[in-house]
Amino acid sequence: MFVKSLDLLNFRNYETLSIEFDPGTNILCGSNAQGKTNILEAIYLAGTTKSHRGSKDRDMIRIGADESHIRMDTDRRGVGYRIDVHLKKGKGKGYAVGGVPLRKAADLYGFASIVFFSPEDLNIIKNGPSGRRRFLDLTLCGIDRVYMSDLSSYMRCLGQRNALLKEISFRSERISELDVWDVQLALYGKKITERRGRFIRDFSVTAAEKHLVLSGGKEKLELLYEPNAPEGDFEDLLLAGRDNDIRMRSTGTGPHRDDMAILANGMDLRPYGSQGQQRTAALSMKLAEIETILSEKNEMPVLLLDDVLSELDRDRQDALLAAIDRTQTIITCTGMDESVRERLKADRVFMVADGRAEAVSAPEAGAEEQTT
Ligand SMILES: Nc1ncnc2c1ncn2[C@@H]1O[C@H](COP(=O)(O)OP(=O)(O)O)[C@@H](O)[C@H]1O
Ligand SMILES: [Mg+2]
Repeated sequence: MFVKSLDLLNFRNYETLSIEFDPGTNILCGSNAQGKTNILEAIYLAGTTKSHRGSKDRDMIRIGADESHIRMDTDRRGVGYRIDVHLKKGKGKGYAVGGVPLRKAADLYGFASIVFFSPEDLNIIKNGPSGRRRFLDLTLCGIDRVYMSDLSSYMRCLGQRNALLKEISFRSERISELDVWDVQLALYGKKITERRGRFIRDFSVTAAEKHLVLSGGKEKLELLYEPNAPEGDFEDLLLAGRDNDIRMRSTGTGPHRDDMAILANGMDLRPYGSQGQQRTAALSMKLAEIETILSEKNEMPVLLLDDVLSELDRDRQDALLAAIDRTQTIITCTGMDESVRERLKADRVFMVADGRAEAVSAPEAGAEEQTT
């Protein structure tokens, strides 16, 4: 699939924006804070219902406006789709495909496949577990609509249970109500744990293949699931942790506390990996994500690369450029060094400045960059 065009109204720093993409390689150039990442965020949101950085709806609506609208036109195997997203202050998102409103966000599944790659993704191993959970969730939501719907049910139950825990601290008679939420939480929590476990087993194999190549045949990568509450024990652990949860006024047990170990030749890269090993493994995981979508959905995802090429050395750039060659890519950069420009064939270049994006011909953009 590919993104044909994007139209924004009151999204982030854009009052209005209308942009048409090439099915090949697109580059968004511009100084910092001009709105490059915001364009990628809008595409990702329209394609997946989620912000890659987990932003709240109200933060994405342009300051001073009450609602925001994204329209994205895509082409999927020769068929055109129009996706509309409507953000309103204090309300849930509204989605429509081809003008027909969707009942729930998970119904958007199947209309777009998108992979977002940012410099933060390169730190996924170095940083804490929340980034790894985010990676798991975004990837799984991209290939499994049931997971997407279970995850949102789980998060809703978790929110309700936490609200009740806060209530209980000054109305202890409501403790009995916890039973109901525990049953629900365990129901969805087990599904999530089971699916994550199954996913990581398969994904580990794909990531290991990528990593073996990237490490010059030296490192065997392995991903291991670290569930906070193994499926069979969920209810028991929840009950055992209840007193503590009431004291802490939040739920300490469940997949929202999961983690994943990333090992190279048996060594846990989280505490022990060198910066280079950690980044190579992170890139392997990202390339494996592309591969997973390709095999699960039988189509190459659109790649959104946010300032990531400049973060990689030449060999790692080459590995990523090989993936770019096979699909539509939208790349942001503040400038691009000569060696990257030579190897990257840009089909369309936009200059982004102050909430506007203008298409320029590729050589012009090159000249512009040389002077900066
Ligand atoms: N809700 C919003 N309303 C208006 N401006 C916003 C909003 N959210 C972010 N911005 C502005 O968007 C700009 C950052 O855009 P971004 O896409 O991150 O820039 P970059 O080109 O560096 O990727 C900043 O100037 C920021 O103030
Ligand atoms: Mg940016």
